[in-house]
Amino acid sequence: METSKREPLLRELKNYLIHLKDQGYTEIPCEADWFANVQQGTAPQELHSSLSPNEMVSKNNKSLTAVQTELGDCTRCKLSEGRKNIVFGSGNPNADLVFVGEGPGADEDEQGFPFVGRAGKKLTEIIEKGMSLNREKDTYICNIVKCRPPGNRDPEADEISACKPFLIQQLKAIKPKVIVALGKPAASTLLGRNVPITKERGTWHEYEGIKLMLTYHPAYLIRFPTLENRKAVHEDIKKVLKELKK
Ligand code: URA
Repeated sequence: METSKREPLLRELKNYLIHLKDQGYTEIPCEADWFANVQQGTAPQELHSSLSPNEMVSKNNKSLTAVQTELGDCTRCKLSEGRKNIVFGSGNPNADLVFVGEGPGADEDEQGFPFVGRAGKKLTEIIEKGMSLNREKDTYICNIVKCRPPGNRDPEADEISACKPFLIQQLKAIKPKVIVALGKPAASTLLGRNVPITKERGTWHEYEGIKLMLTYHPAYLIRFPTLENRKAVHEDIKKVLKELKK
């Protein structure tokens, strides 16, 4: 590109970046292709036309992709030592509904996706049969820790602390209408206190301005499939559906 054409463009770009900074944007994730195209002079005219809605970053929020990149090949806690795969999350990054579980089990560790084992089958049943939603299109699913605790033990406090910043950033990036905490560890992590799940399931709470429903973990329903427990989860998801329709 001729220098005479380049200078006003660079000036405009600089002003645009200053404008974005004033608006509170802290970064603009782009694909490597974009820079290659800039060098070849084939970059899109609009700065953000190469960004998908999920890639747009606003007010100190990162996109989900940026959060995953920051997590990288994490070794921040001892769970990294025994894992096969980091289980970041799956589903729609723009979903109105996010489920937060505890941590990957053997199947999830093997495949790299959350809730793909027996508990996952139960969760899918709750979403698809109980709520008439589509798991991949209508929800996003993740866990409080992204690596499998050995022998499926509960995640320990230091492991939760190391992983929690990534959960928080995931929720900030998705900004759902409703979060459902599945079981005591997820509820306690999100509320920052010891939650007696039997007592508090079915009640609404708030997480960073987002409605938070507490319910039983699907694995608990598999272990204790009483009518009372199944009814309880049914009641809880009915409340969630009502909130989503508002
Ligand atoms: N249990 C969880 O809490 N999360 C999973 O991903 C699978 C089972």
